[in-house]
Amino acid sequence: MAYRVLEDLGSLQGKRVLVRVDFNVPMDPESKKITDDTRIRGALPTIEWLRDQGAAVILMSHLGRPKSREEKFSLAPVARHLEQLLGVPVAFVPDLVGPEVQDRARALKPGQILMLENVRFHPGETKNDPELARNLAELADAYVDDAFGSAHRAHASVAGVPAFIPSAAGRLMARELTMLGEVLSHPERPYWAIIGGSKVSDKVALLDRLVAEADGLIIGGGMANTFLKAQGFDLGASKVEDEAVVKAKQLLEQAGKRAITIGLPVDVVVAKAFKADAAHRVTRPDAILPDEMALDVGPKTVEAIRGWLASAKTVFWNGPMGVFEWEAFAASTMAVADLLAKSHAQVVVGGGDSVAAVSKAGVAQHLTHVSTGGGAALEFLEGKELPGVQALTK
Ligand code: 3PG
Repeated sequence: MAYRVLEDLGSLQGKRVLVRVDFNVPMDPESKKITDDTRIRGALPTIEWLRDQGAAVILMSHLGRPKSREEKFSLAPVARHLEQLLGVPVAFVPDLVGPEVQDRARALKPGQILMLENVRFHPGETKNDPELARNLAELADAYVDDAFGSAHRAHASVAGVPAFIPSAAGRLMARELTMLGEVLSHPERPYWAIIGGSKVSDKVALLDRLVAEADGLIIGGGMANTFLKAQGFDLGASKVEDEAVVKAKQLLEQAGKRAITIGLPVDVVVAKAFKADAAHRVTRPDAILPDEMALDVGPKTVEAIRGWLASAKTVFWNGPMGVFEWEAFAASTMAVADLLAKSHAQVVVGGGDSVAAVSKAGVAQHLTHVSTGGGAALEFLEGKELPGVQALTK
């Protein structure tokens, strides 16, 4: 994939660079404190590099999914957080385009940073309005996309701006494309994938690809129920996607044809209510009572996972093993995070909740790569072209 990188932009001394970042971060609604700043930290190398080159940096991002201007989605608290991380002032302008934004952008000196307000406050953003893209491009001499998490969105700030000014991928974007692209396209084998989360139907394209390419697949989380049902187990009151049972059967058959393992739970943690404090017990999948639901995989399954992965050289992990947000049903997800952190394999984690699980387990620094992309990471791994990446292609 030949996309342009920062060095392709030439000298940036005295230039203004517009950087699309993905600062769509979780925030406490009352205190406005950012509860996980992984995505902000991820963009620091690009921001620092640009400042070192003598460029002024104009940052833009979305936050949440506002319909129009909604103060609770303002990026002002994010600007303050970034300021603390960088230790230099980050100016904030409560708009995206217009005379004030233009004046503030033009007044920037080398090394200074200006953050614009949430791009989604403007109706043209999600419509990829060329007029908005042109107005944004006029603020700067060059454009850098470091928002891997938004690369699957054909929006003005992602796919529109690069049509007007020289553009390149930032450091975070480039690292994501290398780790998810090269590492998982040419994995050192044996290559295993662990896929969890609630639904098979959300991840059909990914499962199809993995069953064709990986040397083994481990299924956990709610979607394991659907696979267990496909094997004939009665899952009691567990959530099962009946319409995906046929797909699960096909995947099991395909794995059989390639003689690869699909590792399914050998024990599960069940409860009679979908509640954080529900009484629970560990049982085999063939002994779930009619009023019980599986909310986590059990300790024997964790040991089986340890065994399956013992010889793996590359592991991709997406999706938690159980309802890990609740302590009582988090054990297996935390155990998997821990065993991956200790593994000698290259471990790449991508897509939404598994990233949160890795953060919760505090092991991110022991893994090869933890993607900042949720939906973007999944679409990329499904083999889809991402508009944000296409726009940076030579
Ligand atoms: C994400 O959190 O996955 C990205 O920031 C994209 O957000 P979106 O799904 O609202 O476009």
